[in-house]
Amino acid sequence: MDFYVDIKNIETEELKHVDLDRVNVNCSPPVFEPQRQYYFMAKCRQIVKSEGERLGRPLYACIHTFGCQMNARDSEKLSGILHEVGYGTAGEEEADFVIYNTCTVRDNANQRVYGRLGVVNGCKRRNPHIRIALCGCMMQEPSVVEKIKKSYPFVDLVFGTHNIYTFAELLYRCLTAERDAAGHARMVTDIWQETDAVVEDLPAERKYPFKSGINIMYGCNNFCSYCIVPYVRGRERSREPADIVREITELAADGVTEIMLLGQNVNSYGKNLGRPVSFAQLLREVERVEGIRRIRFMTSHPKDLSDELIAVMADSHKICRHLHLPLQSGSTRILQAMNRRYTKEQYLTLAEKIRRAIPDISVTTDIIVGFPGETPADVDETIDVVRRVGFDNAFTFLYSKRTGTPAAAMENQVPEDVAKRGFDKLLQVVQDTARARAAGREGQSAEALVEEVNSHDDRLLTGRLSNNMLVHFPGSPDLIGQYVNVRLETCRGFYYMGQILEK
Ligand code: SAH
Ligand code: SF4
Ligand code: F3S
Repeated sequence: MDFYVDIKNIETEELKHVDLDRVNVNCSPPVFEPQRQYYFMAKCRQIVKSEGERLGRPLYACIHTFGCQMNARDSEKLSGILHEVGYGTAGEEEADFVIYNTCTVRDNANQRVYGRLGVVNGCKRRNPHIRIALCGCMMQEPSVVEKIKKSYPFVDLVFGTHNIYTFAELLYRCLTAERDAAGHARMVTDIWQETDAVVEDLPAERKYPFKSGINIMYGCNNFCSYCIVPYVRGRERSREPADIVREITELAADGVTEIMLLGQNVNSYGKNLGRPVSFAQLLREVERVEGIRRIRFMTSHPKDLSDELIAVMADSHKICRHLHLPLQSGSTRILQAMNRRYTKEQYLTLAEKIRRAIPDISVTTDIIVGFPGETPADVDETIDVVRRVGFDNAFTFLYSKRTGTPAAAMENQVPEDVAKRGFDKLLQVVQDTARARAAGREGQSAEALVEEVNSHDDRLLTGRLSNNMLVHFPGSPDLIGQYVNVRLETCRGFYYMGQILEK
């Protein structure tokens, strides 16, 4: 019997090295995390193995991710667990387990999920053993879950953002769900309203070997009046600096050189910790991790961006020359209705301060057009800010009404055609401004981290500059993951064509 290990007695730090085939699963599951999840991983692994033996081939999983970097990072965690329990990776059409990690920030994200469900239902009709799971932000909305139960009964597993760390356990429940007389498995749904837990030390599988996102905090307390994120991601919770630094140190040892610190509002990082730490202090600690060459972060709320942060960025050789600073609107009146808590002038002053302290920085932003009550004159205010700041890029969105947010209940909703007109006018200025900024760097040389072979032309490589812009240049795929100096020969709007100068 000493072949088996009792997972309850394994130290947290050792868990990642545990041989799941040796875990004793004939005892009751551990109460504490993350040991409990490793126990369920071991159980799932047995099921996946015997299912594979029955089919005479390995089993495959497919993860389809919508939304932001947080979701992308969550998907890496799901992927890590699926891999541990024995699934290989395949496309949606070939997979035995398909999971959609959803986003609900704008309605079109939701519509895309329903579209995919239609397709995968066809696959499931041909192959009834396929299991379909839904998770992520959309699942935190009760009306969505109702709709899934009613109109998409072929879905096997539904869970939300707060219990994603229990995925191994949920997967086990899904793989062992009862079947009805017709052979259909009962849908497993588990949605939590909140959680205080920040569970460390679960496996994750990175998309790129050389770069990684790292959550530094979860949730959001800002309640911008248009935004659903605080409702679906819960209250702000920061991870302990020591846990973050440990994770980054492990990533560096594993070959990661570029990291992106993730949070809905990184500038308020650490305020709610037992021993409060500022984001700038965290950056200083992260900078000391050997092997890390580039540090990025997302997203900064203008109201919380400190002078200390600007100073740390200006001093640093590792923090990338890029700041994403969502504006949302350039009209003080609209900003107030949005509950953004800064004015047009405050934003302009901040942007100027940043550009003065870090002249080569690229500043990008997010803008919403069509917020309730917005007039063409408000859009002109936004355009004025775009021109004065000279954004290097801006993501522009048409306002999308999200049920349950204060803005959804506002009476003066803007007609779609009016919003669309403002949007097109803004987009033109955004594109002209960004193009002019990018063209100004033509002929310069810059360091690029080679990310992949160009998807349109396999003679080209694609690299990312410190300022987050992409450059395409001829080169051999063995440079992927390395830093090269490139000459930015021609600017093509939002990217460059270039040549390697030296390795
Ligand atoms: N936490 C980040 C933003 C996360 S959502 C921040 O505050 O910067 C990403 C972007 O989606 C937002 O910046 C906003 O521009 C846009 N967005 C959020 N809710 C929206 C809505 N209801 N309609 C249109 N765009 C929205
Ligand atoms: Fe949404 Fe505002 Fe929070 Fe960003 S800061 S996630 S826009 S509520
Ligand atoms: Fe979407 Fe959730 Fe991110 S709603 S934008 S995936 S936090």
